[in-house]
Amino acid sequence: MVFMFEMKDRDGLARICNLELNGKALETPALLPVVNPKSYTIAPRRLKEEFKFNALITNSYIISKDQELRRRALEEGVHRLLDYNGIIMTDSGTFQQHVYGELGLDSSEVVSFQRDIRSDIGTILDVFSEPDFSKEKAEDAVRVTVDRAKAAVSIRGEMWLAGPIQGSLHEELRTKCAMEMSALDIQLHPIGGVVPLMENYKFVDLAGVIIASKKGLNPSRPVHLFGAGHPMIFPLAVLLGCDMFDSASYAKYARDGRMMFADGTMALDGMTEFWCQCPVCSTHTPEELKSMEEEERTTLLAEHNLHECQSQIRRVKSAIRDGTIWELAEKSCRSHPRLLDALRTLHRHNDFLERFEPLSRVGALMFTGSESYHRPAIWRYQKRFFERYSHPSCEVMIGLPESRRPYSRTYSDLIRKTDAHLVVLSSIGPVPMELDEIYPVSQIFLPERDDESYSSERQRIMERFSHDQRYGLAVIWEGEETLEFLSKMRTRVDRPFDIDRARVVAVLMMQFGPKAVKAVENQRLDYVKSKTVGRIRNVLVNGVHSFSIRAADGYFSLTDEGARLLHSVLPQPSYRVTVHTDAVPFIKKGSNVFSKFVLATDDELRPGDSTLIVDKDDNLVGHGRCLMNGEEMLAFKRGIAVKTRSGFPDDSE
Ligand code: GUN
Ligand code: ZN
Repeated sequence: MVFMFEMKDRDGLARICNLELNGKALETPALLPVVNPKSYTIAPRRLKEEFKFNALITNSYIISKDQELRRRALEEGVHRLLDYNGIIMTDSGTFQQHVYGELGLDSSEVVSFQRDIRSDIGTILDVFSEPDFSKEKAEDAVRVTVDRAKAAVSIRGEMWLAGPIQGSLHEELRTKCAMEMSALDIQLHPIGGVVPLMENYKFVDLAGVIIASKKGLNPSRPVHLFGAGHPMIFPLAVLLGCDMFDSASYAKYARDGRMMFADGTMALDGMTEFWCQCPVCSTHTPEELKSMEEEERTTLLAEHNLHECQSQIRRVKSAIRDGTIWELAEKSCRSHPRLLDALRTLHRHNDFLERFEPLSRVGALMFTGSESYHRPAIWRYQKRFFERYSHPSCEVMIGLPESRRPYSRTYSDLIRKTDAHLVVLSSIGPVPMELDEIYPVSQIFLPERDDESYSSERQRIMERFSHDQRYGLAVIWEGEETLEFLSKMRTRVDRPFDIDRARVVAVLMMQFGPKAVKAVENQRLDYVKSKTVGRIRNVLVNGVHSFSIRAADGYFSLTDEGARLLHSVLPQPSYRVTVHTDAVPFIKKGSNVFSKFVLATDDELRPGDSTLIVDKDDNLVGHGRCLMNGEEMLAFKRGIAVKTRSGFPDDSE
């Protein structure tokens, strides 16, 4: 059976995927409600038909321990048993061992039983690694879990196998476990041992565990977060790359008279108004629910909880499509101070998060608070500024205060009056005038009041800038007298600052690295500019249209000539996707590059990057824009890796 998990849309690690198995489909991110085979809070058929849950999770241990359920499941299959025709995932009894202690289960039987009751996705009997496990104990748990996963691979038959990642809070163990699991013929990876973290609001640890696991996982496999069912944590978990959730919380909370909301939990007892518009809340008052018989009330509260979860899942998906998952996650992390703590630790993982970060987004980068300064998009700008950018040869640099964007329009008079290099000392760090249009510099929407909490970080960046920079003289703009001062100081006046050329050079450096500059060095440049504001639209190198600057994000799109130029100056494997010989004729005709035909990639490629497409001898066969980063292109066996913009047909054709 082919493994079907295909990425359809994404924003960083957050993604919308199509999962298909045994003729059934599931769009992720998805919540799988936990169904107790012995007593339904909501009947499985209703979960699918009314609540649109196309997958659920139930427990094979409970089924196997009950004579009647066991007999029926083996005879009819688990789908008939539950009267549910969607995807059924089964869990193994690991969690029961965590709660009740060792149950003496046989790890092979646990898997063969799930296979025999025709579960769609069966789970191995992993060892629950508690958060307080010592390194040695956690190592043991990982070792046994991986050994059992290896054994389960030969037992699974056609059933998808879930191989949980364990390792307690030891991040290097989580990564190691994930790498070992990724090497096996396993289709789905739950992150396990995290229920105690969620029960105790240890969201800092939870985020660390998710990231450490993701670091070791094959990015083409679905990731499930075991026991996560509160809508409050979906945005953060999805932001960090979780695709699936499961939880009995909707039912447990209902039994306790509690209602789940995207921004927290409310006790029905304390409620005087329903603002929720779900079928339950829009047809009842809190008083009516309070006065009901317990059973009826529990059902209705569970229904509300499920509606709220589905609604939050839809909201998350919509944010992924809009490129606003960071905004949603940041806002949602304000639902609980411990979630806010987790948000505040994410910047520690920016080197990892940045690998999946798109080159740009359609909308503005909206600040929701001081944490927004640490977004991977801003971190990347700063990193590339220091690693990729070098300033044009100017004797003098003038540091300008933050002002309206785009800066080159605000400071257009000054640009004409001086030959000095102008650098805006902006809220997110130094921005040379010629970089004022690239994402996120120009597409950022932040408060006008200065944020004290970021000032020491900004100070550090500015100090590094003044240490690294190699100008003869650097001054801070103090108005017209700065120009007078400069003209008195200097004997020789350079030719006027050529901001157009500087822009082409600087964007090439930031987008493709410093070596790309050779494409235009000592070459004649001409420009086609917009009639309204005079922005560069097209760049002609020696009279040939080679690059266009996208209005939306300020980066280049390549023409065929631009691709040839970059191919001639960028060393292999820089900004290249190498494709299989079989795919070459199709790409030459303009077909997209499917991930299964990708042989090699540049590790630096990010979603949204323009890339060269080459054959195994580095002949240029086309160019296009990446939908995946380099490592994803190599991992995924389905889906489009590069949207081809143009193919290079053979001369003879
Ligand atoms: N349910 C909640 N946590 C876990 C876990 O770590 N492993 C398994 N198999 N099920 C779980
Ligand atoms: Zn409701």
